[in-house]
Amino acid sequence: MSEKLLVTSALPYANGSIHLGHLVEYIQTDVYVRYRRSLGDDVTYVCAADSHGTPIEVNAAKAGVSPREFVERYRKEQHADFQRFGVDFSTYYTTDSEENRKWAWRIWDALKSRGLIYKKSVEQLFCEKDVRFLPDRFVKGTCPKCGTADQYGDVCEKCGTTYDPRELKEPRCALCGTSPVVRASEHAYVDLKKVEPAIRAWVEGEGHLDAAVREQVKGWLDDLQDWCITRDAPYFGFPVNDPEFPGKFIYVWLDAPIGYLSSGERYFAAEAPAGERLDPAAYEAAYLAPGSPSRLEHFIGKDILRFHAVFWPAMLGAAGLKLPHRLAVHGHLTVNGEKMSKSRGTFVTARTYLDSGLDPQLLRYYYAANLGPGVSDLDLSLEEFRNRINADLANNVANLASRVFALVERAGGELTGDPEEGIAGVAREALRLARPAYQALEYREVVRLVNQVADVCNKQLQVAKPWEAPSSPASRRLLLSCAGALRAIAVMLWPVMPVFADDLCAAFGQVRPGSWGIDFDPFVGPPVVARAKPPQIARLDAKQVAKLVADPAAEPAAEPPRVSRAASPAETASKASAKPAAAAPPPPGIIGYDDFLRVELKVALVRAAVRVPKADKLLQLTVDVGEPEPRTIVAGVAVSYPEPEALVGRRIVVVANLEPRPLRGITSQGMLLAAGDPPRVLFVDDGVAPGTRVK
Ligand code: MSP
Ligand code: ZN
Repeated sequence: MSEKLLVTSALPYANGSIHLGHLVEYIQTDVYVRYRRSLGDDVTYVCAADSHGTPIEVNAAKAGVSPREFVERYRKEQHADFQRFGVDFSTYYTTDSEENRKWAWRIWDALKSRGLIYKKSVEQLFCEKDVRFLPDRFVKGTCPKCGTADQYGDVCEKCGTTYDPRELKEPRCALCGTSPVVRASEHAYVDLKKVEPAIRAWVEGEGHLDAAVREQVKGWLDDLQDWCITRDAPYFGFPVNDPEFPGKFIYVWLDAPIGYLSSGERYFAAEAPAGERLDPAAYEAAYLAPGSPSRLEHFIGKDILRFHAVFWPAMLGAAGLKLPHRLAVHGHLTVNGEKMSKSRGTFVTARTYLDSGLDPQLLRYYYAANLGPGVSDLDLSLEEFRNRINADLANNVANLASRVFALVERAGGELTGDPEEGIAGVAREALRLARPAYQALEYREVVRLVNQVADVCNKQLQVAKPWEAPSSPASRRLLLSCAGALRAIAVMLWPVMPVFADDLCAAFGQVRPGSWGIDFDPFVGPPVVARAKPPQIARLDAKQVAKLVADPAAEPAAEPPRVSRAASPAETASKASAKPAAAAPPPPGIIGYDDFLRVELKVALVRAAVRVPKADKLLQLTVDVGEPEPRTIVAGVAVSYPEPEALVGRRIVVVANLEPRPLRGITSQGMLLAAGDPPRVLFVDDGVAPGTRVK
C-alpha cells in the first residue's frame, strides 16, 4: 500500500551560499525521498529559505538592498544549487510569505489561548549608536572566565564557558565598536513547563528519535527553560499580532519551523500538478490534522535539535496539530578531519564543487557510503573520497557494466531465460535487505550491498571467462545474470545516483520498475540486449579532487592578475626582479558604471598589522569592515611600512567582494587599495565609519 508523506529538510538561512556541509542534510533527505518515491509512495518534499532575523536585516542594510530583495537573491541561488545536486524539492519557498504570517499568528494565538504565553521584562545590551538591542552574536568582548579578548556575547571559543552578554568584560557592539548600555524591554515567553508532559510523551514515542538523541533531549526536559519568542525593532520578521506586545516582532525561530507547514500549504495550493492541488483546509486535513493519513518527517542537523525536539512539538501540540513521526538528526561535515574553515581553504561551497567539474552524483555517493542514522560527524577526506569513487564506482560497478556490455554485444541478439542461482540469490537478497536499510537511514549498508553484488559478478566473470565463447549457452546465461544483477544495482542505487542508475538500466534495454515492491524481481523483465553504452565513471586523480579546497601553499606568482596593481604581491615580486615583466593583462577598455558597482569598495579600520614570516613584501592586516567578524587581508605593502603598527587605527579602502585566496598559507579575505612603487596604502579620513561603501 502506498503511503503519503510530508518530508522536510531544515530551512537554510537566506544569508549565504549553500556549502558541502548543508549538502549532507539535503542529500540525506533527498535519498530518502527518492527511496520512498521508488517504492511508489506519494512524497511531498518541502523546503524554503529561512528569511527572517537580525543577521539578514543587518546584511541587507549593508548590501544596500531591502531585506526582501536580499533574501530573494539567496533563495534563487540556493534553489539552483540544490537542483544541480539533484535535490528534488516539491517546493523551495520562503518563510517571509503571507501563508507563513497567517500560520505564525495562528500558532501564537493557540499558545496564548492555552495560557502558555507570559510577559517578562528582560535586560539586554543595547547599542545607542545603532539604536538596537544586540543579539549575543552582535556583542564582542573579553571572556569573564579566562580573559580571552574578542569573544562573542554567548560563549567563549577559547574556554567554552557560556555566559550572559552582560557578563562580558569591555563589551562592544560588533556593528560599530561602541560600548553598549543595559536596557530593559518586555518580551513574550512560552511557559514550557506546562506542556512538558506532552513533549516528553512524544520524545519517548516509538520511532520519533534515535536512542542517543532521545537521551540528550530528555536532559533538556529535566531542566526546562522558558523560551523568549519576541524581538525588538529593528527586525526583519512578522510583527506580533497581539495588543499586549505592541511594536514587537516574532522571533525567527518561532516562524522558521512553521515554514514547513506554510510551504506545504503553498505547494498544494499553487505549485502542485493541477490534478493534485489541495486548498488549505484539504491540505491540513490530509497532512497536519491529528490522525491524518500521512507521515510527517523532519531531517535536521544536531545543532538545531533543541528547536525541533522541544519547542516545535510544543508549538504543534498547542495548535492542535499532529506531532512528527520522525526527527532524523545527522552530524556535521568535517573536511579532512577538521571543521570546515575559511582560513584553511576547506569551506567548500556547492559552487566550488560544481566548478571543479566533478559530477554531483559522486558526492551523493560518497555521503551515502558514509551515512548511517546516528549523529556522528561525517568526514570528507579528499583521499578517501577519491579512493571510494575509484574502488567502488570506477573499478567495481561501472567496470562490471562495461565488461558485461561488451560481452552482450559479442554474444549477439537478445538474452532470455533463467539466471544463475548464485548471482540471482545474492542480488535478490541484497534488494530485500536494502529496503529496511534505506528506511532506517543506513545508507552505508545499501552501498555495501551494491558493491557486494557487483563483486560477486566480477568474480564470476573471472572464473567463467565468457569472453572465450561469448555466445555459448553457459556464457549467455552468465551475461543475462550479470545484466539482471546490474538492474538490481540500478534499483538500489537510484535514490543516490538517479541519472547513473537510469542510464545503467537503459544500457541493457531495461527499465527501472515503476515501484520497487517486495515482489520486484530484477531477472524478470524485457530481454537483455546491448542497447546503449553504459555510463562510465572515470577514475579520479588527486589533482582533480584537490581543486575542491584552496591550496594554502599556493604560490602567489601563479595567481591571476589582480584589480589593484600595488596590492598584488605577484606584480611587486616580478618588478623587483631583473627579469622582464610578464605580458600585461589585456586592458579592460571603457567600463560601464554597473561594472564599477560590481566591485564592492568599503572603508575598513585596521585593527592589527603584522609581517608575514619569510615574505619580505607581505603584511597581514586584521581589518574591521563593519561586519560581525573582522577580516584578514594579506597585502604586498610591507616595504613602505617598516613598522606595520603605524597602520593600526587608520582607515583604508578594501575590495570587499573579492573571492578569498590563500597567500603563504593565510587566506586573504579581500584586497586593499594602494598605489606607487613600492606600494603605499590609500587612507580615508576618520569621519567615515568602517563598512561604508566607497562610490
Ligand atoms: N535556518 C536554520 C534552520 C531552520 S529550520 C526550521 C538553520 N539554517 S542553516 O543554514 O544554518 O542550516 C541548515 C541545515 O544545514 C541545518 O540542519 C544544519 O544542521 C545543516 N548544516 C549546516 N552546516 C552543516 C555542516 N557543516 N554539516 C552538516 N550539516 C550542516 O540552521
Ligand atoms: Zn553599535
